[in-house]
Order: sequence, then C-alpha cells, then structure tokens
Amino acid sequence: MLSRSITLLLVLAPLALRAQPAPATPATPAAPAAPIEHGTEIVVAPGPANLDQIIKNPASLAEGRRLFQTHCTSCHGPNGEGARGASLLSPNLPRVAEAAVAPAEAPGGGGGRGRGRGANAAAATDGPPVSPYDRALQQIIQRGIPATEMQPPRLQPGELPLVAAFVKSLGQLPPEPVPGNASHGAELFKTKGACMTCHMIRGEGAVIGPDLSDVGRARGVAYMRRALTDPNADVPKAFQAYRNDISLPQNFLFVRAVTKNGETIGGVRVNEDTFSIQLRDLTGKVRSFFKSELSELHKEWGQSPMPNYSAVFAPGELDDVVAFLVSQRGGNK
Ligand code: HEC
Ligand code: HEC
Repeated sequence: MLSRSITLLLVLAPLALRAQPAPATPATPAAPAAPIEHGTEIVVAPGPANLDQIIKNPASLAEGRRLFQTHCTSCHGPNGEGARGASLLSPNLPRVAEAAVAPAEAPGGGGGRGRGRGANAAAATDGPPVSPYDRALQQIIQRGIPATEMQPPRLQPGELPLVAAFVKSLGQLPPEPVPGNASHGAELFKTKGACMTCHMIRGEGAVIGPDLSDVGRARGVAYMRRALTDPNADVPKAFQAYRNDISLPQNFLFVRAVTKNGETIGGVRVNEDTFSIQLRDLTGKVRSFFKSELSELHKEWGQSPMPNYSAVFAPGELDDVVAFLVSQRGGNK
C-alpha cells in the first residue's frame, strides 16, 4: 500500500513543473479539436509562441476561435467586443502592453529570464522569435489577472497559443465606435447623475458602488450601458453566484436590516458571519450589527441599489455618460 502511494507521488511530481515553458510548435494546426490525452502523460504547459505565425494558418486560427467561444465569450462577448470583460478589439491591449514593457515578473515560471527587456527571452526555443507583446498576451491568458474576474482558463496543453493568436487577430479589427461626448458625460456624472454619491473615480467620490477609475478597460460598452439602464442585470441572482473571497462588483449584495428598535438600514454588505453583519449604509458609513439586535434581515439578491437611469438621462446624455465611462482607463494610483 505504502509503496504504491509513493510510486503515485513520483508519477505525479512532475506535474508540479507544468508551468515550465517548453518549446512551442506554433503553426502546426492541432487537428480540429482533437482531445489531448493526459491520463498518465506529464502535462507540460506550452511556452509562448509567435502568434503572427499562427494567425497566418487558417486552421489554427479557426481552432483558436472555437476555443475562444468555449472559454471566453461569456465575458468578452462572441466577437471579443467586450461585456462583463474588457473589449479585446485593440492591437494594443492595455494590460498586455503594460506587461510587455514591465520587467519580467517571473514567479511561477513561464516568464522571461533577465530584466529590463522583460518578456524578450525567447531565444531558448527553436521557433521564430516571440515578441514581448505576444509573450505578455499568452502569460495574461494563462495566468489571468489577479483580483479581477479574469481567472486562468482551463485550457489543454497546446491550446493557449491558439486562443492567444485568435485574440491578437481581433486586435486587427476596427474598434467598436462609441458615440457620445465624454467630457459632457463627465459633467453629467457629477451633476445630473449624482454618480459620485456612490462611485469613486481616482480618489474622488464615495464607495457604495465599485470604484470606476478603470472601468473603461475592465468592461465592454454594452455592459456599461446596461449597468445604467438595467442595473439589476448583472447582480447575482442566487446565492451560489456569491463568492466570499474577492471584492468584485458582482459581489455587491444589497441588504435591508431592521433593528429591534425599529430603525431600518439599507446598505451594501461588507462582511458577514454567523452572528454579525457589517454593511455600508447609503451615506458610506460602515455599520455593524449583531444579528441578535435585528428583527429583520433581508438580502436583496439580484437587486442593485443603483438607480435605473433610463428615465433620468435623454438617450444622447446616456451616450455621453457611457463615452465618459469608456474613457476611464486611468487606474487609481
Ligand atoms: C469570468 C469572466 C472572464 C472570462 C471567462 C475571461 N475573461 Fe478575460 N478578462 C475579464 C475581465 C473582467 C478583464 C479585465 C480585467 C481588468 O483589467 O480589470 C479581462 C481581461 C482580459 C485581457 C487583458 C486585456 C487588456 O486590457 O490587456 C485579455 C487578453 C483577456 N481577458 C483574454 C481572455 C481570454 C483569451 C479568455 C478565454 C480563454 C478570457 N479572457 C476569459 C474577464 C474574463
Ligand atoms: C445609490 C448608489 C449608486 C448610484 C447613485 C450610482 N451607482 Fe453605479 N453602482 C452602484 C452599485 C452598488 C453597483 C454595483 C452593483 C451593481 O452592478 O449594481 C454599481 C455598478 C455600476 C457600474 C458597473 C461597474 C462594474 O464594474 O460592474 C457602472 C458602470 C456604474 N455603476 C455607473 C454608474 C454611473 C455612471 C452612475 C451615475 C449616472 C451611477 N453608477 C450611479 C451604486 C450606484
């Protein structure tokens, strides 16, 4: 028994090395969707490949599109135009471009060696050289972006360069036009919309809703428009959708509590355990209650405290506010 489990360990041990880069074989089109066996096989994640090479091969690109549809469209839209996830219709995706110039952050392997030139340590492979942008794009897809909804996808070995190539090919399409006047939108954001009573942009505003400093690169246009005209649409409808570990907009849960003294407090849940709950009321103050102090506690799943703006803004104004949101790509540092 014991020796069997040791053997098993020895067999499994190399799996821990799966983040190691391996020479990529870019332009070989994986026969359409051939499932890759990995019963006892050691799974090695493929290293970064030259994506232009793959884009030139129609069969590989078609496979990349198929993988994108399986793993990515739920957030990035069927054509990469963005939804809950960013629009990918740019030859210079902001996160990717940032990572491409940053010194290689290499923990976990897969990153380039050396510093400064960052991602350009491709010499180890036989294939054509891999640009820092291509390398960064593959790393971001492989690892996800920490603290965002962009999590590492479950791809089979060899699939990563194919999806990445498809994403890069999207960047060659014209970007989605965004009608509206962003600077008029900025004004509406502060005045008529009173958005800052709940949202913060670069340190100004309130924190009842999510910080919007970076919303233009995190979300697609249609999603933002829907946030304004149907605020309940993207709020979790059921308990399973709630994840406790990260503070993301979809975790917003609106709570209505009534104390035994008859006071009613509406707010966004900040934290909760068996005996107590903390919420941020609509003035932005965090209040904490023992559940034993409350006579009622309603969790408004699927309900956003955000007002519906379809009746507040004229259609032109809505375009302006959306254009303003799209332009928020500043980061909050
Ligand atoms: C659960 C939703 C979700 C899924 C599924 C998802 N993404 Fe994302 N992705 C996001 C979000 C949200 C962002 C923006 C994160 C940020 O910058 O705040 C993002 C960002 C990205 C970026 C960076 C864009 C930039 O600004 O440089 C790339 C590239 C990307 N995703 C590719 C993919 C690919 C390819 C897949 C499928 C294999 C995928 N994503 C699946 C939500 C998702
Ligand atoms: C009463 C508070 C409140 C007001 C006022 C408000 N919001 Fe919101 N907003 C929220 C909350 C809470 C969320 C997160 C839950 C949700 O999606 O509804 C949110 C979500 C959003 C989102 C989606 C963000 C994301 O990353 O998912 C956008 C975009 C947004 N608001 C824009 C606006 C704009 C623009 C205005 C003004 C025209 C505005 N909000 C006014 C509370 C508010």
